[in-house]
Amino acid sequence: MPPAPHPPDNPRYLITGAKGFIGAWIVKNLVERGERPWIFDQDPACHRLEAILSREAFEMVHFVRGDVTDFEALDRAVADLGISRLIHLAALQVPLCAADPRRGAEVNVVGTLNVFEVARRRKDQVRRVVYASSAAVFGPEEFYGGRSVPEGASLLPGTHYGAFKQCNEANARVFALDHGVSSVGLRPWAVYGVGRDVGITSGPTKAIKAAVAERPYTIRFSGGVDLQYVNDTARIFLKCAEADLAGTRPGP
Ligand SMILES: NC(=O)c1ccc[n+]([C@@H]2O[C@H](COP(=O)([O-])OP(=O)(O)OC[C@H]3O[C@@H](n4cnc5c(N)ncnc54)[C@H](O)[C@@H]3O)[C@@H](O)[C@H]2O)c1
Repeated sequence: MPPAPHPPDNPRYLITGAKGFIGAWIVKNLVERGERPWIFDQDPACHRLEAILSREAFEMVHFVRGDVTDFEALDRAVADLGISRLIHLAALQVPLCAADPRRGAEVNVVGTLNVFEVARRRKDQVRRVVYASSAAVFGPEEFYGGRSVPEGASLLPGTHYGAFKQCNEANARVFALDHGVSSVGLRPWAVYGVGRDVGITSGPTKAIKAAVAERPYTIRFSGGVDLQYVNDTARIFLKCAEADLAGTRPGP
């Protein structure tokens, strides 16, 4: 039986890590349609938001400064603000996870568990969790005999970052099985656009910027890569937050 659709609600969004690149574009889409989203981020700076939002749009945004590893702070924010849609992006990127895997796990794995635990506790209020996984759950192409990798291929991450994302997908599944917490995890590839300034795959964005400025630039990696434009990615996150889906897919 298909799940009964939820009655329409008045969505209230909280986006973790939305002072980052993808989150800033999700916020831009929300304010452009008149919503007033909440951002939960530890960073005091707002340079990516300021780069893409008008002053009026910026004033539509609410901020909670907090760390996703602080369960009580996250839970309080969701409860007090009446949040119904949680989009979870806060994470450390590949180089930081490689340099300090223990801190990487705290933020990327425990932080994600905190988001799911809040959604479990507040199940009557939080209708949907959408979280950023990553194509890094797959390893480099040589792990797959140099052939193209279908979506259902074994997950063989080649970085701590990818291993943490794989762990998050498994935990999302268990929260759905054990507690009925409904979620969608997305696996972006290399996202590009204004505001992409950290991580190895920021190279194509920096190369585009250098080309416009007529400066030389060398991308630090090579091989085939799927590039996704950030505004398309942002809209897909929002579509998933709005869709009336139940549970999480049990396997590939
Ligand atoms: N950009 C890409 O190409 C890409 C590809 C695949 C997956 N992803 C995933 O998408 C999500 C967003 O990526 P992005 O490129 O916007 O990242 P980003 O690095 O630009 O932004 C991450 C944000 O998370 C915040 N953050 C970090 N630790 C935090 C903590 N402990 N508590 C609260 N906030 C914290 C940072 O301050 C920052 O604003 C991440 O989960 C990332 O792993 C990104």
